[in-house]
Amino acid sequence: MSGTPRRCLELQNSSTHIAKAVEILCEGGLVALPSETVYGLGADATSEVAVRKIFAAKQRPAGHPLIIHVADIETARTFSNDFNEVAETLGSTFWPGPLTLLVKRSTKVIDEITGGRETVALRVPAHKTFRTVLTAFSQNGSGAIAAPSANLYGSVSPTTAQHVLSDMGNLIDAVLDGGHCVVGIESTIVDCTVDPPVILRQGAVTLELINAALKPIGVAAAEEFNGDSRAPGMKISHYAPRAVVKLFENMESLSTYAKQCDVSAIPYVSITGNADRDLYARELYSLIRDADGLHPQEILVLLPESIDIGVAIRDRLFKAAAPH
Ligand code: TXA
Ligand code: MG
Repeated sequence: MSGTPRRCLELQNSSTHIAKAVEILCEGGLVALPSETVYGLGADATSEVAVRKIFAAKQRPAGHPLIIHVADIETARTFSNDFNEVAETLGSTFWPGPLTLLVKRSTKVIDEITGGRETVALRVPAHKTFRTVLTAFSQNGSGAIAAPSANLYGSVSPTTAQHVLSDMGNLIDAVLDGGHCVVGIESTIVDCTVDPPVILRQGAVTLELINAALKPIGVAAAEEFNGDSRAPGMKISHYAPRAVVKLFENMESLSTYAKQCDVSAIPYVSITGNADRDLYARELYSLIRDADGLHPQEILVLLPESIDIGVAIRDRLFKAAAPH
């Protein structure tokens, strides 16, 4: 990437435009793709040159590993030399869907993807447009798409094509518009290489759902890894807007705080949590981006209850609220 501004193609959800997206991938270019979780910045996962472009565009430190997206579990198996029972169970239960599995890599996986690690993260996405791209890319190219979230390193993930354009419009070749992401937060990541398996990142596939699928082995609850080598890039103070994020457990404490603020001196906006946690997750990043766009000093946020996807929402909000 030269870094010089250039025109990003805005592709719509039509067969001609999807074909164009696949053509760009085949040529080693960067295409932002809609997934059910967040928009991904896609490139051919088997091309060193293409994968390096992802790091340059995102300004992501080299060595932070990427997720490989494939069309089905059969293809996923070929990227691992130990796609074990846990991976088989979770893959066959939750794929296509918002779950990423960490497994031992096979020789097919290039070092640029894993940052030299012996493990690789694999996901079969559910979004119809992403799946159409993957099927066509399997016929005309490698069928493996490396895709981190399509935002600049450390900032809020994009859930619309507009979010991608405003962050990276001059840094990528195209964005394929597949509408607003329905889940709205990044996939759950499960490390299948350890016993018992461990959730490295919470998401829509919850601890309860994974435990039910993995009976009697079970899964360990997510831990805070503080950006160490277990899951680089998940450090505290990620997913952060410019404004300071202040979190509240209930409306009373939020209101009390808001009343104390001198609005004329300290501009702030508030996002109030919705009892519908799925909707809250879907809208979370749009709300944070919209709030941040008003250039407040503070964004006041009502936390959702720690139930189902509420656990993952709280995780992202605590990271957004960490000092940065
Ligand atoms: O929902 C999602 O997962 C989205 C969509 C586009 O699929 N992707 C996404 O990618 O969130 P990214 O790169 O923003 O986050 C992936 C996380 C990173 O924190 C990375 O460190 C971790 O997965 N990861 C990937 N490969 C890994 C590996 N081999 N070992 C440990 N962590 C890994
Ligand atoms: Mg990300």
